[in-house]
Formats: sequence, structure tokens, C-alpha cells
Amino acid sequence: TRPKVVVTRNLGPETMPLLLERDDVEVVVWPEDTYCDRKWLLENVRGATGLLVMLSDRVDAELLEAAGPSLKVLSTMSVGYEHVPLPELAKRNIRLGYTPDVLTDAVADIAIMLALMASRNAEEVTAVVRNGEWPKRPWSPFMFCGPQLSASTVHPQRTAGFIGFGRIAQATLKRLVPFGLTTCLYAGNPATPADPAADAAHARAFGLPRVARVGLAELAAESDVVFVLAPGGPATRHVVDAAFLRRMKSTAVLVNAARGTLVDTDALVRALRERWIWGAGLDVLEGEPVIHADHPLVKEPRCTLLPHIGSASIETRQGMAKMAAENLLGGVLGHAMPAEFTGTK
Ligand code: GLV
Ligand code: GLV
Repeated sequence: TRPKVVVTRNLGPETMPLLLERDDVEVVVWPEDTYCDRKWLLENVRGATGLLVMLSDRVDAELLEAAGPSLKVLSTMSVGYEHVPLPELAKRNIRLGYTPDVLTDAVADIAIMLALMASRNAEEVTAVVRNGEWPKRPWSPFMFCGPQLSASTVHPQRTAGFIGFGRIAQATLKRLVPFGLTTCLYAGNPATPADPAADAAHARAFGLPRVARVGLAELAAESDVVFVLAPGGPATRHVVDAAFLRRMKSTAVLVNAARGTLVDTDALVRALRERWIWGAGLDVLEGEPVIHADHPLVKEPRCTLLPHIGSASIETRQGMAKMAAENLLGGVLGHAMPAEFTGTK
């Protein structure tokens, strides 16, 4: 009999034929364009060899138990794996496919957009136009001003700090170099030792005077912009907390395009209200997508909040869907998986 695969969303007209037109797998697809129903999934996953999920699906022991010992491959259409219980997969020898690289540029683009929006008060100033206030706000020399992301004669030194220094962080750094960035500080995985030779090589490769791995306290205090671009999960929960935010410059901005759990939301609300920092640009938020209009960060004029669209370019989502389908098929049919997750660096 053909191995069964379950797919929790329609992956679009470019990708679905790759799955549906094969005769060596049985493909079961959640038929609605809404979140895959948990009950439907628990029933349909029984006896499946492969499961393709979105980051909005909760993968847990109950789901893996429902699938049973036939399950060999989990493919997620995301680079992040916070919604995937890695130890439970390891216990059951289930391989994990994910979608690195294809989305790196799209997310780095959004990180830059958020840095610019946060520093130049995008939320506040677009509201002035949208609410019809512009005619009542006659131009004046310093109205609507915010700190400049690029280097200037006033501030020739510009420092960016990165929490996480993987693919997306480095693609973001590459985009910042033409802004006149002078220093890149990063906080890497505490489990891996510092490597000054690698930092010097990075500095040469990016054409920067200085790239250095530092502690969080120094990173907070020295950076003009802090980018949170590390995996979520228990190890990185609330790395940006009240102490971190208090150390930041009052003209600095915080960008999070990774996972909401890395930033302590309550502390960030205080930091913005009490002007510990200039502003924040967030693509992700703890508790998403259940974020209502009365959420304190939605109401905060110095916070730009996007509904988790970092990878949401047409080109990138098509690439991710195709990669997720190929990971699924590769794992199920015993071929190579284009991107198998093999552990945290
Ligand atoms: C997006 O957040 C992803 O993990 O792909
Ligand atoms: C995620 O893909 C990262 O390495 O930054």
C-alpha cells in the first residue's frame, strides 16, 4: 500500500500538483482555507508516514501518538521550530524538514523595514495623515523627527546589535553596511565558545571595522538598533527583559522578526511608555495571533506591529511551500530531504 501523507493546508497551485499528481503516495489535505481543525487532524493522521504542518499547527506528543509508529517525517513550512517538540521527535526517530535559506532575504528585508519604521516614527506619522490631522500640523523644523538609522556627520559611528547571528541576522547585517554601519555586536549561542578569529573574518567579509561577540549587557548598552533574530523556545525566552531594555540607549530601537517569546512584552510596554528606548518594530508578539486592538503595544504610537509577515513575499512563500513538499516526499520515499533539521547550532 502507498504511504499516506497528511498536509494541514492547501499549498497553492504551484506546489499541490507535486503531491497530488503522484501515484506512489496517498495525500490527505485539510480542505478549508482556515486553521486545520485539531479533531480532523487527530483522526486523519492515524497511520500516516508523513505530516506537513504550518507554524500555526501545534505539534505535540498527543498528535504524534495519534499518528502512531508509522510516522517517519514531519515537514514544517517554516524555518522556526518553536511549535515542534524536538525531544518527542527524537524519541520516535521522526525526521524534521524545515525551510531555511529560501526565506532569509524576505525576512531580512522586513527587519530593515521595521528598523526604519521604528526609528522614523512610522506608526505615529502615518496616523497623522490617515486621521486627517496633517492640515492641522503645520510644518516645523523638528516635527516628527526621529533618530537616523544611517550614519551622519552628527553620529558617524553606528552600531547594530544582533541577538542570534545566523543566516537571517547576517543577511540583515549585509543590508545595513551601505547605511554606514561601523560596528556589529552579536550575542551568539552561549553553548558555543567565542571565536575572535571568526569575528575578524566576518569583519573583513562584511567590510566593517568591527564585528564582535559580546555579552547581552554590552550589546544592549552599545547598540543603536537591536535585532532579535534567534530561534524561540525555552532557551531564549525573554532574553530581552526589563534589565536589557533599561540598558539600551534612549535613542535606540528594538526589532523582533524572530519569535514573540524572546521579548518580555510587559517590560517592552514599560520601556516604550517611559521612553527607556525610542521605539520598537515587531513582526511577532507573544500570544499571536490573538492580539486585539486594545493590546497595549497595538495602542503604543512608538511601536510598529506587523502580523508575522516576515517571509510573506509571493516568491518566498512559493519557495517555502515547494521546499516543505519536497522535504515531505524525500523523507517518506527515502530520498534526500532538501532541508533536514539536524540540531541547533
Ligand atoms: C517564520 O516565522 C518561519 O519560521 O518560517
Ligand atoms: C534563521 O534562519 C537564522 O539562521 O537566522
